Order: sequence, then structure tokens, then C-alpha cells
Amino acid sequence: MKIIEWDDTYSVGIDQFDGQHKHLLNILNDAYAMFKSKESDKGKLSAIIQSLSDYTADHFSQEEAWMLEKGYPKRDEHILEHGKFIGKISEFDHHFREDTAYLSMGIVMFLKDWLIQHILKNDAEYSEFYRLRQQ
Ligand SMILES: [Fe+2]
Repeated sequence: MKIIEWDDTYSVGIDQFDGQHKHLLNILNDAYAMFKSKESDKGKLSAIIQSLSDYTADHFSQEEAWMLEKGYPKRDEHILEHGKFIGKISEFDHHFREDTAYLSMGIVMFLKDWLIQHILKNDAEYSEFYRLRQQ
């Protein structure tokens, strides 16, 4: 059971980042499946949040390094967006550790929506910048 399927309209035209975006969507699908499953337990959910948090941080830092290397003009603004998302995940993680019930399906949906909007808006901008530069 999935909440989101990869769609080619999400592609930023850079294989490295498309692959990482796909992986992030897989983690969110895992979180969703875990909620739906009867085997759902705090340890497993916590592991998923941790992998989402670690993988996101790694992915964001790779994007930011790439933007620096390419001289992307909107890098600072983009980094602020990344920071907001990291902040949200750690806020959820913090509440989750105190109260399992806090981690609701609504949060997984929020993260999914945020990520898709970010890919379609902010990431699409660096994608366009890169595409134009290569012409
Ligand atoms: Fe990004």
C-alpha cells in the first residue's frame, strides 16, 4: 500500500537526485505501510523516522554541494527550505519519542506533500537553471 508513486513529472533531470527523491518517497511509503500494518510498533516506526531523517540530511547536503559547485544563484533560499523540513522531522521525532500516538498519519501526509511541493517548485528551479546552462 502506497501513498505516493513516482511520476516522471517529478524528475529534475539529474539521475543522482531523481534516485534520491525516489528513495525518500519509498521511505514515506514504508512509514504509511507501517501505520496500516498490525505489526506496527514504536521501534519500527522510530527506525523509519530515523532513516527518513538521516537520508534527508544526506540528500539535502548533496544538493547544496551541487548548487555551490554549479554556482546556482538561489542556493541560500533553497537551503532555508531544506532547514525548515529538517526542523519539521526533528520536531515530529521529538514528540514521537514522548508519545507514540503523536505520530499520526497526518504527519506522514504532511511530509509527503511538503516533499512533492519542494521537488515540483524549488528543485524544478535548479533543474531549469541546469538545463538552460547546458544549452
Ligand atoms: Fe531541494
